[in-house]
Amino acid sequence: MQYIKPRGTKDILPEDAEKRFSLEIILRKIMTNYNFKEIITPILENYDLFVRTVGNDSDIVNKEMFLVKNMKSDENTEPKIVLRPEATASVVRTINDSKLLMNLPIKLFYYGPMFRYERPQAGRYRQFYQFGVESLGSNNYLIDIEIITLAITILKTLNLTNFTLKINSIGSTISRNKYIEVLKNDLNKIKSNLCNDCQTRINKNPLRILDCKIDTNLKNIANIHDYLTEQEKENFNNIKIVLNQLNIKYEIDSKLVRGLDYYNDLVFEIKDNNNGLTLVAGGRYDQLSSQLGGKDLPAIGFAMGIERLILALDQAEILWHITKKLDAYIICMSENSRNYASSLIYHLRNNQISANMDYLNRPFKKQIENLDKINCKFAIIIGQKEIENKTVMVKNQKDKTQEEVLTLDLINYLKEGIKKYVKNS
Ligand code: HAM
Repeated sequence: MQYIKPRGTKDILPEDAEKRFSLEIILRKIMTNYNFKEIITPILENYDLFVRTVGNDSDIVNKEMFLVKNMKSDENTEPKIVLRPEATASVVRTINDSKLLMNLPIKLFYYGPMFRYERPQAGRYRQFYQFGVESLGSNNYLIDIEIITLAITILKTLNLTNFTLKINSIGSTISRNKYIEVLKNDLNKIKSNLCNDCQTRINKNPLRILDCKIDTNLKNIANIHDYLTEQEKENFNNIKIVLNQLNIKYEIDSKLVRGLDYYNDLVFEIKDNNNGLTLVAGGRYDQLSSQLGGKDLPAIGFAMGIERLILALDQAEILWHITKKLDAYIICMSENSRNYASSLIYHLRNNQISANMDYLNRPFKKQIENLDKINCKFAIIIGQKEIENKTVMVKNQKDKTQEEVLTLDLINYLKEGIKKYVKNS
C-alpha cells in the first residue's frame, strides 16, 4: 500500500519552509509599521457562519467546504463543523464578543491555513495559507486607501513589480439589488449563449456570471456603475483621487464583483501579470458584523495566498536571503572523541553557536568528504591528541586556514570568527 498526501495539499520541505519563515518575518515587520495586531481564530468553524456571511449561493459554501465529522458525530443534534475556507467571517465573529470593540478602529492580521475543495492546479490548493488583514470600525475612504497601499507595500517590499491592481465599486445592497434585477433581465436575453453553469446562475447568483472564465465576452450587459447612488460614486471617486495622488496605478473593472456575498462598495484584486493568478483580494464589508447579530461595524480587508506569493517570487527569480550557514560542524578523528564532541556541541549550542556533528559513525575520511555538503562556517576537528591537550583544531571553511585553539577559549574564538566571517561575506 502506498501512502500519498491528499489531493490538493502540499508538503512543505525545509527549503520552502525557510522561504515561508522569511516571508512571515517581512509581513510581520510591515504589520508593526502599519499598527496591525495578530488574531488567531480556530481552524474548525461552524458551517452556518459561512452560509450567513460568504453566502449560500457562493461557490465556497455551495461546493468547496470540507465538512468535519468525528466518530460520534450526531448530525441531528450537533451543529455542522467545517474546516474554515477563509477567515474574515471568523474575525468578525470573534470581535463581536470581545473587548476589542472598545477601541475602534480595530486593525488585525492573521496568517494560517484555509481549506477549499477546489480542482487543484498551479497556485490552487485544497489546503493553502492566507495572510490577511482586517480593519474594522471606520467607513472613511482613507481606510480603503490604507488597505490598498498596505497590499502594494507588501508586494513592493518583496520586490514584486509585475502586477495589476483592479478596483471596482459594487455599491450598497440596495444599489446592487436594483442592478441585479436589470442584469438578470439582460442575461436572460442571451441565456442560450452562456455556459451551462452560468445558465443556472442567472437566478441564483447572476453577479458571479460577470466573473466567469468561459463567458468572458459579455456584451450589452448593464454596468453596475450606472446603479450607484451619487454618494457611492463620490466615495469611489475619492478613492481614485488619492490613489492618483499616491501614484498607485490601477485599472477600473466594472465586472469585478468577487465571489463572496459580504462585500459592498470598494472591491479590489491584485493579479500577478506573469501567471495570471490573483495574489491579493479584498474589499469592504460594512454589513457583515450586523448580519452576525453584532454591532454596526463598517470594515475592509484583504487576504493574500502565501503559495501564490512564493510562486510569484520564484518565477520573478527574486532571491531569498535564507542561506543561513551552520556556525560549526564537529569532525571526530577517533571513536573515543565522539563522546567528547557530544559534550562540546551541547556547550556550543548553549552559547548560541549553531552546531552539528556526525551521528552516523562515519569514518574520519568520510566525515571530511561530507563536509563540503554541509554549509558551515567552521569545522572543528577533535582527535586523541586534542583531547589530551584540551584543544581543538578549528578550520575556517571560507579561507581554509586552520588553527589550534584551547577548548576553554573556543566560544570566544568562534564568536569573534563568526563576526569576521559574516562581515567578509
Ligand atoms: P478570496 O478571494 O477567496 O478572499 O481569497 C484571497 C486570496 O487567497 C486569493 O486571492 C488567493 O491569493 C488565495 N487563495 C484563494 N483560494 C486559494 C486556493 N485554493 N489555493 C491557493 N490560494 C488561494 C478571501 O478569502 C477574503 N476573506 C479576503 C478578504 C479579507 N476580504 C476582506 N477581508
